[in-house]
Amino acid sequence: MKQKDLLYTGKAKSVYRTDVNDRLIVEFRDDITAFDGGKKDVLKNKGGYNAEVSAFIFEYLAKNGVKTHFVEMLDEKRMVVRHLEMIPLEVIVRNVAAGSLVRNYPIKEGTPLNPPIIVIDYKDDSRHDPMLNDEIIIALGIATEKELKTIKTSALNVNRLLSDLMAAQGITLVDFKLEFGRGKKTIYLGDEISMDSMRLWDKKTGESLDKDVYRFEKGDVMAIYNRVARRITQQQG
Ligand SMILES: Nc1ncnc2c1ncn2[C@@H]1O[C@H](COP(=O)(O)OP(=O)(O)OP(=O)(O)O)[C@@H](O)[C@H]1O
Ligand SMILES: [Mg+2]
Repeated sequence: MKQKDLLYTGKAKSVYRTDVNDRLIVEFRDDITAFDGGKKDVLKNKGGYNAEVSAFIFEYLAKNGVKTHFVEMLDEKRMVVRHLEMIPLEVIVRNVAAGSLVRNYPIKEGTPLNPPIIVIDYKDDSRHDPMLNDEIIIALGIATEKELKTIKTSALNVNRLLSDLMAAQGITLVDFKLEFGRGKKTIYLGDEISMDSMRLWDKKTGESLDKDVYRFEKGDVMAIYNRVARRITQQQG
């Protein structure tokens, strides 16, 4: 497969066309950003850790019947994916109160959310990703009622699978963000599932094992990304 021209470049990944129909290459860069790009850094190997964890999780989900865009890794940072027409939604599943839920609503960090909560934001940095509801999504023509149903069912299914995967490694899956897109007739899970898109707490110590370490300067970000990547991909006991 040949990498062709750059299709778009986001804050952390670059997406390239290829010489194969329906296939793109996603390159995970070492850029890390937070607060809508207000905080920015380049951290060596960060792209590799996120790519490795994303690939591992996409394979695990595929084995469990989830339709994902993942095809294969070309090298440590480049992933071949199915070219999707992305739906501009950030589908967030929350198992424990944290982050913006605690900032915006009267709920204490760490409160278990049972059943889990799905929050859907409009993926638009210029509008600071405003929260949507089903009626707005349908009125704006972002997705149909049927697509929305598929997306929510899939998000909850992914939550069950990922929560189990993390629990086996002594990690609480606090919350995470998914992006979906349209392939031919089918909705696929796209983008990435990594330490940048999940909020993970160590079950024993409560320590953050995700981008909150970068956001709130809680420690050595790359040492933690490396360690959590080993744990998730089960390369260490
Ligand atoms: N299978 C796919 N087909 C087409 N586009 C995809 C696919 N998977 C992910 N994308 C898109 O590729 C881009 C990845 O880049 P990146 O995540 O760095 O940028 P961003 O989402 O614009 O910014 P950020 O996530 O930092 O807010 C995103 O726009 C994402 O929606
Ligand atoms: Mg992104």
